[in-house]
Amino acid sequence: MSSKLDIVARILSGRGTKPGEAGRAFAPANIALVKYWGKRDEELNLPVTSSLSVSLGALGSEVTIRRGHGADTVILNGETLPADSSFARRVSAYLDLFRQDSSMVFHLDARNTIPTAAGFASSASGFAALVRSLDQLFGWDLDARELSILARLGSGSACRSLFHGFVEWHAGEAEDGMDSYAKPLAETWPDLRMGLVVISSEEKAISSRAGMKRTVETSPLYTAWPSKVAEDLPEVRAALRERDFHRLGRTAESNALAMHATMIAAWPPVIYWKPESLAAMKRVAALREQGLAVYFTMDAGPNLKLLFERKDEGAVAAEFPALAVVAPFGEGRHAIDS
Ligand code: DP6
Repeated sequence: MSSKLDIVARILSGRGTKPGEAGRAFAPANIALVKYWGKRDEELNLPVTSSLSVSLGALGSEVTIRRGHGADTVILNGETLPADSSFARRVSAYLDLFRQDSSMVFHLDARNTIPTAAGFASSASGFAALVRSLDQLFGWDLDARELSILARLGSGSACRSLFHGFVEWHAGEAEDGMDSYAKPLAETWPDLRMGLVVISSEEKAISSRAGMKRTVETSPLYTAWPSKVAEDLPEVRAALRERDFHRLGRTAESNALAMHATMIAAWPPVIYWKPESLAAMKRVAALREQGLAVYFTMDAGPNLKLLFERKDEGAVAAEFPALAVVAPFGEGRHAIDS
């Protein structure tokens, strides 16, 4: 079995080792249309299945990294985090993979361009931006595949945040995960919109990491998950090729619900929904009955992400007054405006 350190050593062998002044990079957040849920290797974040996401354009994380003094410092959105906070510990543990000796410490300044109140997990964009900023700081000059693999070691879904647009993370088969990385797809969809319905921005009781582990270990429905993904991936690829919105929306919504079904059947059950989440899901279904082309997807949390097209933005926003609309391909409104 390979450790994270083995993989890092292999990727960095023969690369630059003299850190410069600073590294700075941005990476977009991403939302999966076909989800990653379950690992075949927890050390390396190797997934059971492939997954497919769309990145959120200008919404993501910007990270600046410098050599520090004494101990690592982590600043998030302008606030210095206590060294024992879970985020600072997770970042320091990740930086351990790249220290050339134990005296090497870092000063990291991370800013999210997604308002924290939008209830969005930013670990994917955060780790992807961190990997890119480290690449600059050390002058490694890694290629996209290597950067994606390093980001995966921080958080699985981070390997998709290296790219804009539609992105597929190929699960791979190798034990060391060198074939498990994300690649951008050629398709674009300028009229595609994602609307964020914020039910709660509180930190969730169970992290996605813990939730997926419990699902794999205890849910009798988990055995059905790989075949569901195997059906949904070609559906979504075809929908993107043909710009068939209903096919895309239907598949994404059904995939998210199937993922939640696997977790609800875990023990103890993993239920991220709040009553308001279910009410919003039913509202989406009712709007569809009335002829509005709107679908939703959900991650490991109570919030909904609506999928619709530019022409329906007014109608969808009228039904969800606090909706924050994102244009993943950069046309129309680029940033959250709620
Ligand atoms: C529901 O990437 O956060 O958002 O690999 O343990 O860091 P780790 O998990 P993470 O899980 C994301 C789960 C998801 C689905 C997805 O983004 O594909």
